[in-house]
Amino acid sequence: MAPAIKTIVFPVAGLGTRFLPATKAIPKEMLPIVDKPLIQYAVEEAAEAGIEHFVFVTGRGKNSIEDHFDRAFELETTLEATGKTEALEGLMNSRPRPGQMSFTRQQEPLGLGHAIWCARDVIGDRPFAVALPDELMHGEPGCLAQMVEVYREHGGNVVAVQEVREEHTSRYGIIKPGAAEGPVSEVRGMVEKPAATEAPSRLAMVGRYILQPEVFGPLAEGRRGAGNEIQLTDAMAELVGRQPFHALRFDGRRFDCGNKVGYLEANLAIGLERDDLGEELRRVLARHLA
Ligand code: G1P
Repeated sequence: MAPAIKTIVFPVAGLGTRFLPATKAIPKEMLPIVDKPLIQYAVEEAAEAGIEHFVFVTGRGKNSIEDHFDRAFELETTLEATGKTEALEGLMNSRPRPGQMSFTRQQEPLGLGHAIWCARDVIGDRPFAVALPDELMHGEPGCLAQMVEVYREHGGNVVAVQEVREEHTSRYGIIKPGAAEGPVSEVRGMVEKPAATEAPSRLAMVGRYILQPEVFGPLAEGRRGAGNEIQLTDAMAELVGRQPFHALRFDGRRFDCGNKVGYLEANLAIGLERDDLGEELRRVLARHLA
């Protein structure tokens, strides 16, 4: 049986320049969607998939991510003293258990592949997951939980994919699919950010991966790819044909919170679903759209 996926890497060293000035002193991963920072959605998605260890590849100016998942002693004491039990429980439940988090740094912005490689010693010789927190996945069960099911059946490597418009292939890693069974396809190849004319399909990788530790081999070579960056896609491409490799068209919605409209849409969609906010938000929106 394939060893269980217990560890996940979150690359969070990016500068977040698209959200300046909001991200001048705050990591983009700490921007809230309704009332929860983006990074917390990804951590909860991973925990739901049975993942128990969370590895953050950070950079300068990202300390608030570490603080967010720590105890907030004064806050917790005050909430307790003032009887705000619901808020207190929310805080306690969102905090991982002691020892479940690791932090390492990517010292230079050399690309996603390089960021993952920076976690190699923390990961060791076990399969692991990767999630890009900019991509907010909304589904039940969550995207990673759906991927773990595919992994249990097939082992090897699994990536989440979604069909994108032809003119958008150059924004993503695009797979070349093989035989398919329902939402699961074999992966025959992949290319990072191809022009529409070069793209092997319109199935884009959307920031969720289950990977074998052999991916660190090609990553260690540090070869530059698209955009002169060390690309995770290029390293994964070297595992294709050597290990099982599958793509899952996951069931759920994706919000690309790395761009402003996607970020605003996530706030609206998640706000509209909330029992405590949905109705009022719908009224407010109707006013704006009238
Ligand atoms: C990264 C990956 C790309 C993937 C995308 C998903 O690109 O390199 O393969 O499709 O994330 O968001 P980035 O958006 O960091 O340029």
